[in-house]
Amino acid sequence: MRKNIVAGNWKMNLTLSESVSLIKELKTKINQDSLENTRVIVAPTFVNLFAATEVVEDTMIEVAAQNMHFEDNGAFTGEISGKMLQEIGVNTVILGHSERRTYFGETDEILKKKVEKAIENNQEVIFCFGEQLEERKEGKHFEVVTSQVEKALFELGAENWKNIILAYEPVWAIGTGETASPAQAQEIHAYIRKFIAENYSSELAETISILYGGSVKPANAKEIFSKPDVDGGLIGGAALKADDFTAIVNATI
Ligand code: 13P
Repeated sequence: MRKNIVAGNWKMNLTLSESVSLIKELKTKINQDSLENTRVIVAPTFVNLFAATEVVEDTMIEVAAQNMHFEDNGAFTGEISGKMLQEIGVNTVILGHSERRTYFGETDEILKKKVEKAIENNQEVIFCFGEQLEERKEGKHFEVVTSQVEKALFELGAENWKNIILAYEPVWAIGTGETASPAQAQEIHAYIRKFIAENYSSELAETISILYGGSVKPANAKEIFSKPDVDGGLIGGAALKADDFTAIVNATI
């Protein structure tokens, strides 16, 4: 059975002390015994990752990075490699977030290289994809999401998909307070799962966790997560508040 996953993408928020406090609060609020079929992940900024790995020790909470470079090392000022992340105990990385694509020029080609490096390192990838508002209005959303997934991931061998988690994040729903309706999320998730089944196998497609992201809050999480092809969420704003994030985790249980 696929695992539910609730991952908090903290983006460029929270200092070191704030990050440590939030994780400590999550440790007391999240009922660890209830997490048999739910993984809980937090993704602080790079400078706070190492401390985060120490604070989550002996808990079920996992730590992910928000990005990484596609080379192991070299003259890439300001960049961080997968090897650097792994040595501090961070083995999961978010790649392809729409903010990386829009503000930092990450293309399908760059993302393909990043994904392949992560797979080579045996890291786990939370791969984000999703259409812009204009693309949805023009009815191009199916085409856009399949193209993003295909270009970055479809040269991977089937055996590598055990390290892939997908996250559908319609850009028009990120930080806007506007969520995709549960039916809209289900429609895209099912479509992507079918697309994977057609290109790999239905057995493989059934094992892939597909998260929904975009204005998930305690008030809407349960209904979105109840859809059969939605396996949890990638949470932005609500992940910065312990009570809200805990309530969203509980919505998977
Ligand atoms: P919000 O939950 O703030 O809309 O952000 C979603 C997101 O971008 C998570 O990666």
